[in-house]
Amino acid sequence: MAEIRSVGVVGGGQMGSGIAQLAAVSGLEVWLHDSDSTVLSKARESISSRIQSIVSKGLLSKEKGAEAVRNLKCSSNLEDFRSVDIVIEAIVESEEVKKKLFGQLDNIVKGSAILASNTSSISITRLASATSRPSQVIGMHFMNPPPVMKLVEIIRGADTSDDTFSTTKFLAERFGKMIVCSQDFPGFIVNRILMPMINEAFHALYTGVATKEDIDAGMKLGTNHPMGPLELADHIGLDVCFSIMKVLHAGLGDSKYAPCPLLVQYVDAGRLGRKKGVGVYKYSKI
Ligand SMILES: NC(=O)c1ccc[n+]([C@@H]2O[C@H](COP(=O)([O-])OP(=O)(O)OC[C@H]3O[C@@H](n4cnc5c(N)ncnc54)[C@H](O)[C@@H]3O)[C@@H](O)[C@H]2O)c1
Repeated sequence: MAEIRSVGVVGGGQMGSGIAQLAAVSGLEVWLHDSDSTVLSKARESISSRIQSIVSKGLLSKEKGAEAVRNLKCSSNLEDFRSVDIVIEAIVESEEVKKKLFGQLDNIVKGSAILASNTSSISITRLASATSRPSQVIGMHFMNPPPVMKLVEIIRGADTSDDTFSTTKFLAERFGKMIVCSQDFPGFIVNRILMPMINEAFHALYTGVATKEDIDAGMKLGTNHPMGPLELADHIGLDVCFSIMKVLHAGLGDSKYAPCPLLVQYVDAGRLGRKKGVGVYKYSKI
């Protein structure tokens, strides 16, 4: 099993910044890249301030906190990923864009490096087909927010090797996570079940079954969910929910997975959820 000393994270949004934080706090060197330089500087600020807050709560020593901040290197140049041992990709949920990135990374990183994707739903086998190293491509699906949520779902593509699997599992455990393993089917385990529920909540709102507040309260109080499905959709990002529903619909071929027209309309209107200050609900602080 390969030793992981250095991690590359592509995508500095909600998920990528959380994954980079986990790796930095675990004592690993981290290279974080985003195609948008504003996102990259915002990610550095928010990671540093979250690490400060962990230190001030006494959950991490001052020295370890300072080391974690030093471990993080932000770069707008993917070529800086040459020496990393693993890349965890967390960019937009689009097969075409991810495949293009996997092809680029394959040409940049060293031959032994693993290419992992944090995709919520897209086939790992197909992402692997864009590289010359399908045995070193794997799904490493963190939950949102990565530093808080306990689970990492690991997905093996058709050609993922046992060694790639063991190294990835070991890394997730080093981050303090529990793992579950899924076969490479659309949406894997969590989103195969969660997204149709969220989509159904949009249908309930769309067809006037109840108000958004009552739909969320019904599911929180009636089924013991910590967040209602519409509130959760805003937390995940409505664009991400829409992309996952499209993957489920295309990959499983059943009309029950068709994205709800109201979800589509909100995405078209730019109401992407908490990250944009408006989704199903309005938020005063982003
Ligand atoms: N949001 C969630 O709750 C959640 C949970 C688990 C997994 N995911 C998955 O994680 C991935 C990222 O989701 P997110 O919510 O962090 O999205 P996000 O919109 O917050 O961040 C995506 C980032 O990727 C960057 N980006 C896009 N294309 C790029 C490219 N070619 N090269 C470099 N950077 C690029 C964007 O600038 C953006 O900053 C998606 O695949 C999503 O399905 C999301």
